[in-house]
Amino acid sequence: MAGNNSNLGAAKRAKNDEFYTQLTDIEKELRHYRKHFKDTTVLCNCDDPFESNFFKFFVLNFTRLGLKKLIATCYEGSAVAEYRDGKAKPYKAVVTTVHDTTGDGGVDMEDVRNLFELGENELVELEGDGDFRSEECLALLDEADIVVTNPPFSLFREYVAVLMEHEKKFVIVGNKNAITYKEIFPLLKDDVVWLGCESPCEFFTPEGMTKKVNGLTRWFTNLDIKKRHEELILVKKYAGHEDEYPTYDNYDAIEVSKVADIPFDYDGVMGVPITFLDKYSPDQFEIIGCSLEIATPIKSVAKSNDVYQQGGNAFYIRTSEHQLRRLYDRIAIRNKHPEQPKEVQQ
Ligand SMILES: C[S@@+](CC[C@H](N)C(=O)[O-])C[C@H]1O[C@@H](n2cnc3c(N)ncnc32)[C@H](O)[C@@H]1O
Repeated sequence: MAGNNSNLGAAKRAKNDEFYTQLTDIEKELRHYRKHFKDTTVLCNCDDPFESNFFKFFVLNFTRLGLKKLIATCYEGSAVAEYRDGKAKPYKAVVTTVHDTTGDGGVDMEDVRNLFELGENELVELEGDGDFRSEECLALLDEADIVVTNPPFSLFREYVAVLMEHEKKFVIVGNKNAITYKEIFPLLKDDVVWLGCESPCEFFTPEGMTKKVNGLTRWFTNLDIKKRHEELILVKKYAGHEDEYPTYDNYDAIEVSKVADIPFDYDGVMGVPITFLDKYSPDQFEIIGCSLEIATPIKSVAKSNDVYQQGGNAFYIRTSEHQLRRLYDRIAIRNKHPEQPKEVQQ
């Protein structure tokens, strides 16, 4: 029955992957990257050209962004893949020109369809199933300068690994939890990848719209954006307020439970919530590690009826002699230029 189980697993995974991004979320994020797209080939490799708002965004802004080429490929497993226009298999769309074909003075999806029909742009069947790891899709990846999409959540690690291996620039949507994946966090820590500006919180699915979950996802990118160089304004002082910043029991750092409470005058290591990455500028802070990886394991020690909580993978704060409080994931950071507290004038 292993086959059945793995089929069920695959079906569940596929279901969790069918989240379609709203055009407004794409527009909100991509306005921060405008200058990067001029004269580039953009690839959307998890995108049915007739369904995806990524394709729609780029094709309708093709001239405005100064794109050289837009390529989109769709996947056989996609719930929306109907293989229209006589295509019996997943297809790729290759766009090199977008202009008014109807004489209405503007450009819309009707023009895009007409340009395929007129043969000015290409709409052709793929040889295989459109898997981003397939040879033909990797060849398209190599042709692209920038990859922009919302890839399948279940394959996020592998998807990013492929982009890194092929040295691609990208702007992609991922689950917020991906920040702490052991394959992803080192990229954030080493400033190879960073978070974008917005956080899409609602998606279309084959069953309708998802519930709005704030903070659900992030954009992950390696294209430079202004936000990355904007330093956080720090207003809290550590000196004289040490009791507001407890130290961890299993790591040499202080706990700063809210990003807004990061003190301006602390030069040691601080543990902050992972949402810190939304405000992170490598000009201001250094990332030391993630609690999941750097926390020292806690020993289990029984004494009378009290038992120390067990487990590593997290920072703990001692609340009494025999009690420890486990914290949510933390990122250990250090301020590169802590301010010296000003001397009080006599
Ligand atoms: C999260 S959805 C997003 C779809 C589209 N990019 C969007 O944002 O609206 C991910 C898409 O990737 C497709 N997909 C799943 N596995 C894939 C694979 N191995 N290669 C390419 N696409 C895949 C899914 O069918 C799904 O349509």
